[in-house]
Amino acid sequence: GIKIATIGGGSSYTPELMEGFIKRYDELPISEIWLVDIEAGKEKLEIVGAMAKRMWEASPYDVDVHLTLNREEALKDADFVTTQFRVGLLDARVKDERIPLSYGMMGQETNGAGGMFKAFRTIPVILDIVEDMKRLCPNAWLINFTNPAGMVTEAIVRYGKWDKVMGLCNVPVSAMMKEPGMLDTTLDNLIYKFAGLNHFHWHKVTKDTGEDVTLEIIDKMFSQDAGIPVNIHNVPFFKDQLVQMKMIPCGYHRYYYREQEMLESAINEYNTIGTRAQQVKETEAELFELYKDPKLDHKPEQLAKRGGAHYSDAACETIASIYANKGTHIVVSTKNNGAVPDLDPDCVVEVSAFVGAAGALPIAYGSLEPAERGWLQAMKNMELVTIEAAVTGNYGLALQAFTINPLVRAGEDAKKIMDELFIAHKDYLPNF
Ligand code: NAD
Ligand code: G6P
Ligand code: MN
Repeated sequence: GIKIATIGGGSSYTPELMEGFIKRYDELPISEIWLVDIEAGKEKLEIVGAMAKRMWEASPYDVDVHLTLNREEALKDADFVTTQFRVGLLDARVKDERIPLSYGMMGQETNGAGGMFKAFRTIPVILDIVEDMKRLCPNAWLINFTNPAGMVTEAIVRYGKWDKVMGLCNVPVSAMMKEPGMLDTTLDNLIYKFAGLNHFHWHKVTKDTGEDVTLEIIDKMFSQDAGIPVNIHNVPFFKDQLVQMKMIPCGYHRYYYREQEMLESAINEYNTIGTRAQQVKETEAELFELYKDPKLDHKPEQLAKRGGAHYSDAACETIASIYANKGTHIVVSTKNNGAVPDLDPDCVVEVSAFVGAAGALPIAYGSLEPAERGWLQAMKNMELVTIEAAVTGNYGLALQAFTINPLVRAGEDAKKIMDELFIAHKDYLPNF
């Protein structure tokens, strides 16, 4: 049978992953799931692992859930490895958010200074995992959720030299869940085309009649909830700008297109209710209290308070599509191969692809107009500099990444933020 190994098994999202596998058991007959964590996450692993076991027991299927702190035994002969770990847990994210905000700059999980430090901490770990996979499960597919998912996937391909990888995100999933209803139709009547980078992609939508309905969705976005993740403050885009670009930006584009308002709102939260990570800590505590209930054997409603809700749909659908060679349209981070001609063919992009046994076959999106092309190239190069800094531990290169990141105002304060983050995270930055 199929063996799945999930690294970061103690995540509060694990029940959603189990739900996704249970739902798809007929096409994806799993026999074992190994949830792996580390000493710091042992308690979380035990609680959510027991919950995962109850979910399978309540199902008609016979699947063994193993909990372990030994990554090697989990990876041995795995068919699919999924990653959902957070180096330094939420306390590290609190620092990524609070330190830049204390200097009046954006502090966010995957964007700006915080996103770059999350990359610095995560990339050495993922490259270790890839080395383990080369020894223990050289034919496995790696399905990466760990953020910053685009940069992490790029590091796996570029420095890990591992091609059997797809990076995933729930943001495109949420858009495809919400938008059909805005047009009074269903997803199977629409054709979606996404292109860009993780947390920096745009999309277009066509009806099965051939009519481009992108502008219609843009129009409705200003009177209805367009399904942006709950972690992103809903500052509206400028409608004239979206009408001009004729593409729908992802929720995270707000940090760039409405930088001023997003920063004001983040600073306001920082000064009042606490940053997103501080709020998430409360949600997480609430979720783990629920998971402790020996009678609970299904995913609780409250998980919808997390920004990553519905991520299992992407993960499990991707695995099922590879296994059963379904050729499903899934938005993945994968090697460009020309789909986005404004970027190098060998870099990782987040695009619409048909996913099957041959991996992800990206759909050609075509060139972007200068405004979007400029953003995309600047962001990709910022990612590449960040990743190279993470791998080499070169301080000057880290400073270069900070200088070109659009959400960092370069100068003395930027350098102070960087130096404070280096001290705050020193235990997790072996390369620097
Ligand atoms: P979390 O803080 O609950 O961490 C998950 C687990 O990872 C913890 O139990 C922790 O102990 C463990 N961990 C830390 N370092 C580890 C290591 N070296 N090896 C194995 N396990 C390790 O995190 P979360 O909020 O559940 O999020 C998990 C990750 O998934 C984060 O990186 C987050 O950004 C990402 N995420 C991505 C998406 C997406 O759209 N791609 C959606 C949701 C979450
Ligand atoms: C979105 C993103 C994820 C991110 C999450 C944060 O869904 O796609 O990549 O990790 O939000 O949610 P949180 O509840 O942790 O703030
Ligand atoms: Mn995401």
